Amino acid sequence: MADSKADFCSFSDRQQVVTTKLSLDWDINFSERKINGSVQVAVRTLGNDVAKLVLDTKDLTIFSVCDEVTGEKLDFHLAEPDKALGTSLSIKLPSSAQTKGAECTIRITYETSPSALALQWLKPSQTAGKNHPYLFSQCQAIHARSMIPCQDTPGVKAPYEAKVTVPVDLVALMSAERLGDELCPSDSSKKTFLFKQSVPIPSYLIAIVVGLLESRTIGPRSKVWSEKENVDEGAYEFAETEEMLSIAEELMGPYVWGQYDLLILPPSFPYGGMENPCLTFVTATLLAGDRSLANVVAHEITHSWTGNLVTNCSWEHFWLNEGFTVFVERKIAARMHGEKQRHFEAIGGWKDLQNGVERFGVTHGYTNLIPSLKGVNPDDAFSAVPYEKGSTLLFYLETLVGCKDEFEEFLRSYIQKFKHQSITTQDFKDYLLSYFQDKQSVFDDVDWDAWFFQPGMPPIKPSYDTSLSSGCLDLCQRWCHSSSTDLHSFSSEDLKLLTSKQVVETLSLLLLEPPLSLQHIESMKDCYKLGASGNAEIKFRWYRLCIRAEYQPIIPQALDFAVKWGRLKFARILFGDLFKFGVARDQAIARFHQHKADMHPITAAMVEKDLLEGQQSSV
Ligand code: BES
Ligand code: ZN
Repeated sequence: MADSKADFCSFSDRQQVVTTKLSLDWDINFSERKINGSVQVAVRTLGNDVAKLVLDTKDLTIFSVCDEVTGEKLDFHLAEPDKALGTSLSIKLPSSAQTKGAECTIRITYETSPSALALQWLKPSQTAGKNHPYLFSQCQAIHARSMIPCQDTPGVKAPYEAKVTVPVDLVALMSAERLGDELCPSDSSKKTFLFKQSVPIPSYLIAIVVGLLESRTIGPRSKVWSEKENVDEGAYEFAETEEMLSIAEELMGPYVWGQYDLLILPPSFPYGGMENPCLTFVTATLLAGDRSLANVVAHEITHSWTGNLVTNCSWEHFWLNEGFTVFVERKIAARMHGEKQRHFEAIGGWKDLQNGVERFGVTHGYTNLIPSLKGVNPDDAFSAVPYEKGSTLLFYLETLVGCKDEFEEFLRSYIQKFKHQSITTQDFKDYLLSYFQDKQSVFDDVDWDAWFFQPGMPPIKPSYDTSLSSGCLDLCQRWCHSSSTDLHSFSSEDLKLLTSKQVVETLSLLLLEPPLSLQHIESMKDCYKLGASGNAEIKFRWYRLCIRAEYQPIIPQALDFAVKWGRLKFARILFGDLFKFGVARDQAIARFHQHKADMHPITAAMVEKDLLEGQQSSV
């Protein structure tokens, strides 16, 4: 397989120096929207005559670079910036550190830019409490470099420590163990929080939040954190956390991170969840009131093994993080709700994969399980493909092995074998084949090349149990095939026997069909009242269905939803739908421009890009 451990998304890769520890000393400056401070990068040299260390940076101002121990100033050079990847920072190593095995610690004093892509600075008016500012980070995939000069590649792992100074009434949390806080001796308006992550992690897992945060205990090793306005709701919604953690431990071995806390972010958080160690970040759109979206928590918990312990060595092997995580997330669902639920979710995943493949086009390189990302920002290649093609491959391999227990045994062994490492797809495949040496012939028919390197849908579709999905298909078909005179046959009873996930599935199926008539939409609105659902996945699909049917009364609600919820999966698609919906287009563009400055920088950039590309393709 064509692969070195190349990470084309980073300047710092393929060098003979590795980070062994990061120590951060930060002052969080809300009035200037900057983090000001220093990082000490401890490094080890792997070869002889290695003269420099190359770090990734983006929009950072570097004030000074010195040898932490001797105080000697070190020469450094910032290259011309690359739009996607930022600016490489080359530092001349002290001469004592230029030989194999030598170590040194380099202190870089710097500050971030107010437009750092990793950070969103919220005004008090953008928070639930309305009185205090709020800051949070999102580093995956390659945004850590806008927060810290570092080897911003998942191929390098290091532990970190941090000292974070914030306004005295606020709380800081990081993706690390909390060591406590103290009043700042030199300034009583400030407080300093201390953190330590002793497990080596890649840079994309460094995370920070600062705000008026409270917590509730939800399990022996878990708290939920958020502004006080939704902390109780969160404690209810995520009450299954410990059960999920113990199932995950059964499946993958001991949880090594100590604490597993959840942080509910303000509405602009761009993802459903982010697996920051010790402190998963989640969107408030999971607060459905009935725990129906808790699979996202199962997913992020699973990353504590697949992703955070065993890590993709470059973003080209992202499926090792996400495909494995989806596969195990659904094993957790099976333990909690039965094997049929796992199959039901896999069927939904296959459909998401079809949509993802269609969006790029069946021959597009981003639909390869292992895409080529040379010079590409991984955010641009992001899709359901690594998640769903990846988990489908594992599902298929499990059926070939023929025994689920045996495959789970392999999973545990894979984690033990590669924990604390960053690996390639080849490492996985080699280990799989060696593990099942005695059964090798079961893999004879696997077309590895097609799975890994061919675009489009996978070469094989596993067969799934349809007991939980057939009702969704039936209801979808009833709607599609009923004439306007049949509409009275629908009622709220139709949904009574369906779970929220089945309602979501039904709506997803309807979205693949030709648009419904306005009369159908009116009836569906009256019968099901989906616009009033507490489940954001249901609401989102309802709005899409209405827009598809060109149902104009939905425009204000759909726009409000797209503006309120910065979760990319919702905002990008809804704005995209509205930009294409003739009568809504101008309004949607105007709302986007009005709101842009308050949006998360990643969401704003993506929606804008979609808008511009849409304009280009319509000329
Ligand atoms: N690690 C991802 C989120 C991510 C991926 C952020 C790539 C930035 C770049 C996280 O684990 C994830 O996959 N979240 C999903 C939820 C999941 C249930 C599929 C999401 O945000 O929707
Ligand atoms: Zn994930």
